[in-house]
Amino acid sequence: MTKNPLRLGVNIDHVATIRNARGGPHPDPVRAAELAASAGADGITAHLREDRRHIRDEDIARLKAEIGLPLNFEMASTAEMLQLCIATAPHGCCIVPENRNERTTEGGLDVAGQHNFIAPFVRELSDAGIRVSLFVDPEKEQIEAAQSTGAPVVEIHTGAYYEATVATEPARIAVELEKIRTSAKIGAGLGLEIHAGHGLTFMNVQPVAAIPEIVELNIGHFLVGEAVFMGLAEAIKEMKKLMQDARTGGMY
Ligand code: PXP
Repeated sequence: MTKNPLRLGVNIDHVATIRNARGGPHPDPVRAAELAASAGADGITAHLREDRRHIRDEDIARLKAEIGLPLNFEMASTAEMLQLCIATAPHGCCIVPENRNERTTEGGLDVAGQHNFIAPFVRELSDAGIRVSLFVDPEKEQIEAAQSTGAPVVEIHTGAYYEATVATEPARIAVELEKIRTSAKIGAGLGLEIHAGHGLTFMNVQPVAAIPEIVELNIGHFLVGEAVFMGLAEAIKEMKKLMQDARTGGMY
């Protein structure tokens, strides 16, 4: 048992993407969540998008009913989602920006610019006993604004870091990593619980996992993609090992 553990939330959205490509029931994202649980995942994340392009309402209901792990319900800040989330009563809710034409969640929430809209939203979810997380870019202004809404958690968007790792530009990687480190430190100093995610892979996870203020990583696309080659359970076990090694000062 490490002193400063790091949780892995497994995002199963893209199991549903594959299922929906054929319109039938296979592969079932709930079965993937069960497998993730047995492979050592600490939580399950699912994003119910407004266009239902991957996860559907019935998936959320089944995840809540059938999976023992904490469910992190990712959603946009709309009245429809607020109602669905409160009815589902997940362990946590992560509020993300959503744009119909985007391929994935492209940037963090502009909490600083939309404080008066987001704060009451956070309050309603919190009053329902749901732990709220805001998905924000690694910027001081956004972290401070997130804290001022009363949300107990921020999830730092690691997408720009991912892009830098794909471009294999060391200077850009260093800059993006530093933004994540600094934001994690600022957030923790404000009393926030710090999560991070987006675009994390076996190749780039360790420098993020080594940031001591971060207590949870949410990872999906890479794990589901890697499942094609090594199986989902093995991919999750390997990711957890890399995370724990980075955390305990192992080589990377
Ligand atoms: N965290 C949040 C808030 C996200 O929106 C996503 C993508 O759905 C992830 C983590 C996981 O990103 P990826 O699928 O790239 O691992």
